[in-house]
Amino acid sequence: MKALIEALNLPEDNKLFIDGAWVQSNSPHRYSVIDPGTSIPLMSNAIACADDIEKAVHSSTQGQQNWQELTPSERALCLFDLARALEECLQEFATVEAIDTGKPYSEAQGDIQVCIDFLRFYAGLCDKIHGETIPIDPTQMSFTIKEPVGVTLHIIPWNFPLFTCIRGIAPALAAGCSVIIKPSEHAPASILKFAQLTAEINFPSGVINVITGFGLPTGELLCQHPAIKHITFTGSKKTGTQVLKCAANNMTTCTMELGGKSPAIVFGDADIDSAVEDVFVASFLNSGQVCSCASRIILDRSIKNVFSEKLTSKVANSDMGHGMTDRQFAAINNQTQLDKIETFVNQAIQEGAEILIGGKRHIDPEHPNGLYFLPTIIDNLPPDSALLTQEIFGPVICLQTFEDEEQAVCLANNSEFGLQAGIYTRDVTRALRISKKIDAGQVNINQYYTSEVYIPFGGNKSSGFGRECGAGAVENYLKIKATSINLNIE
Ligand code: NAI
Ligand code: MG
Repeated sequence: MKALIEALNLPEDNKLFIDGAWVQSNSPHRYSVIDPGTSIPLMSNAIACADDIEKAVHSSTQGQQNWQELTPSERALCLFDLARALEECLQEFATVEAIDTGKPYSEAQGDIQVCIDFLRFYAGLCDKIHGETIPIDPTQMSFTIKEPVGVTLHIIPWNFPLFTCIRGIAPALAAGCSVIIKPSEHAPASILKFAQLTAEINFPSGVINVITGFGLPTGELLCQHPAIKHITFTGSKKTGTQVLKCAANNMTTCTMELGGKSPAIVFGDADIDSAVEDVFVASFLNSGQVCSCASRIILDRSIKNVFSEKLTSKVANSDMGHGMTDRQFAAINNQTQLDKIETFVNQAIQEGAEILIGGKRHIDPEHPNGLYFLPTIIDNLPPDSALLTQEIFGPVICLQTFEDEEQAVCLANNSEFGLQAGIYTRDVTRALRISKKIDAGQVNINQYYTSEVYIPFGGNKSSGFGRECGAGAVENYLKIKATSINLNIE
């Protein structure tokens, strides 16, 4: 505990980050932040109340005006400075992230590196945002300008805390908006450390505020606030629906990133060894606590046995331990999530499914109170099993079998979600034909995860709407004003 608090460089009983400084919450309520690899409490945070939120909104409103008045290249310099500052303490951030989320250290390191990439990408966009002229007729001149929407709210989950945060705030800041960040109560530490970093480099105050607390009341109070002009939410469909209801009252626009039940389809002509390696990462990165992870592996009958044997053997040869020991598998982020995973797997067992490997909790001899679940591969589920339709969000994957291309597409699309899909085949024409038929925001061929910064990311159907990443994401935080001039007036 002491080591993390020291690494965080924060007061033990945490305060809120408002207007460039740590301020005492008006709420007496606190929650504990836990290292899920050991179940040891790390720090305690305020559960912010309505008064705190008013303070943050006031600061963000003023901060946004000041931020907007900087030149675009001045804003770019601030973001480049932030990227460099984060790069200088990448290891410290990775340590905090690994301990608080439970993930393996090298995965956390990779996540922080992507945060730096995001800050630089959007820093470079700050001075490239502009409208267009529209030639309608000779008697009129029309043009558009793009203005920042104002104060934006970013509600963050626990699986990739700093990454999800920066993915949303970097384009918002580039667009000239200020941001209020509400980290998840299950993993707020890296975002608080990030707030501290902004203070250390004298990032303009009021532009980035951080408010801690649970979804209720803190998150909901923020979503209800009329001064919030855009909400970027990443989390469950259930909570996303609540957020949308609050947003509707104020006509607040939203970007919704709500998870999935994504398929990886492997054809008989695929490079099987390479597909096994790729699907292993696609399914088990961050122990499957990834919105876009491949949780349904849809296999051509001709290679079903060989594929599942190779994948099962790869899992059998993998290792599990505390995130800081950096094995392939580490802790599940929180007790509720661990219980949810266990309930799903027990249901599969009751339904008569075959557990090829795993299927139960793991007790780490070094950390018997840590939250661990063995990587699990399930076969022969009944077609109507909830495990094939609901998001498990853990190291649990289900195998399905297809006879032909049509059935593969049908199985892949048989989900309320539509976030991502992987297709493995040497036949590129077939891959493209199937890609067109799959209802998902991202389809990747002979690979699963791609480079996050540059490529638009988001979901269809219950996976949400709007796209993050890439140059287009700044548009989420801009409003267009069209101006038309009558040229006939002399
Ligand atoms: P959640 O969706 O409840 O929490 C996400 C964020 O929303 C947290 O910051 C939370 O404090 C906040 N929140 C909760 N209720 C709110 C409300 N009424 N108004 C405003 N903000 C609110 O997710 P939770 O409970 O942590 O995990 C539940 C399930 O969600 C997981 O089992 C998983 O299936 C899914 N999930 C999906 C993620 C994704 O990347 N799409 C990330 C995390 C969880
Ligand atoms: Mg934690």
